Amino acid sequence: MKILFKNIKELIQVREESIDFVSGKEMSVLPTIKNAYLLVNDGLIEDYGSMDSCPTFKVDQEVDATGKMILPSWCDSHTHIVYAGNREGEFVDRINGLTYEEIANNGGGILNSAKKLQETSEDDLYEQSKKRLEEVIKLGTGAVEIKSGYGLTHDAELKMLRVIKKLKENYTIPIKATFLGAHAVPANYKSNKQDYLDLLINNVIPQVAQENLAQYIDVFCETGYFSVDDTRQILKAGKKYGLIPKIHVNQFTSIDGVQLGVEYNALSVDHLEVMNPEDIEILKNTRTMPVALPSCSYFISIPYTPARQMIDEGLPIALATDFNPGSTPSGNMNFVVATACIKMKMTPEEAINAATINGAYAMGLENKVGSITKGKLANLILTKPINSYGFIPYSFGNHQVEKVYLKGEEF
Ligand code: NIG
Ligand code: FE
Repeated sequence: MKILFKNIKELIQVREESIDFVSGKEMSVLPTIKNAYLLVNDGLIEDYGSMDSCPTFKVDQEVDATGKMILPSWCDSHTHIVYAGNREGEFVDRINGLTYEEIANNGGGILNSAKKLQETSEDDLYEQSKKRLEEVIKLGTGAVEIKSGYGLTHDAELKMLRVIKKLKENYTIPIKATFLGAHAVPANYKSNKQDYLDLLINNVIPQVAQENLAQYIDVFCETGYFSVDDTRQILKAGKKYGLIPKIHVNQFTSIDGVQLGVEYNALSVDHLEVMNPEDIEILKNTRTMPVALPSCSYFISIPYTPARQMIDEGLPIALATDFNPGSTPSGNMNFVVATACIKMKMTPEEAINAATINGAYAMGLENKVGSITKGKLANLILTKPINSYGFIPYSFGNHQVEKVYLKGEEF
């Protein structure tokens, strides 16, 4: 099946050579071709260029994109899309003055979602999760990472990972699975956290690896959740089975978790709302991607990741949603990109790079998605008619996505 998109007002994020990610000043460069064509063959990007030099192709379908732009789909490298039920009650509690932390300490938060998930059947969990996956695909996401972490028992964690596996089998969007058994200490382990860590290390992680249910391993490394020492135990156990770390760190406090992530060659360190100079320094010249989650900052009113400072100091940044029932009940990457510009002072070029190629890197998919490059998947956003790509973040709260394509097929 060959499709030719022609008269594209601007083809965005065109990378002749495949790159891994962009950092620092390079983040402000967003290569584009104006008045372009794009040829897709069997789900892959086969050719592109200026309309002035568009060869005559024999194709099955032509799409006239006059006035519209095409960009690679958003790459959302941090989500918790598989969950059961919602937590609007806690939302109202926060409006009435409780903090996110106070709610968690009262037995709400992650433990609240875990209770619901444990009581939900695998089929029901799949049905609830697939709706959210379809919703984010329609909003332009074309590659996604999904974490476990709302099971918190051996069986419920595996149930979550099997749901992720089923989503992977039934949808064309690339999905990466992350094991986040150390997301919160279950109530029955409150006074013996080490027993829970041992359960994860000796029982759950080996089975996750044996059934090949995850590629990555995550820990909520945070005061009141898992210490740097706890995190080290989990990362070490994961490493034995080839599970690569992607960790939640520095959401509320800076406790040397970033340093641990770098030590363990984490693919990414995520959240980073609270960063001290040493945390920034240690990330320089590493292959660990800092991931910012501005919708989370927005929703629970915590600081935004100091992305401006980090980029100015030469670091890369990736942007992701953190879609989850507690801190970010939204998987809208368009909102993330807009919020990064509005609240974190990233330019549209930086934000688009962060939400495409850098996001792809943060889930090990930089060779498949994240840019318009020959041989990559034709996972694309066709915008509504717009004047410039800066209009995408400018029109916050709306979105400019007219159609989305996964492997060249309209979704
Ligand atoms: O990434 N911070 C830890 N985990 C999730 C939120 C968990 C929840 O509140 O359900 C996050 O924000
Ligand atoms: Fe998260």
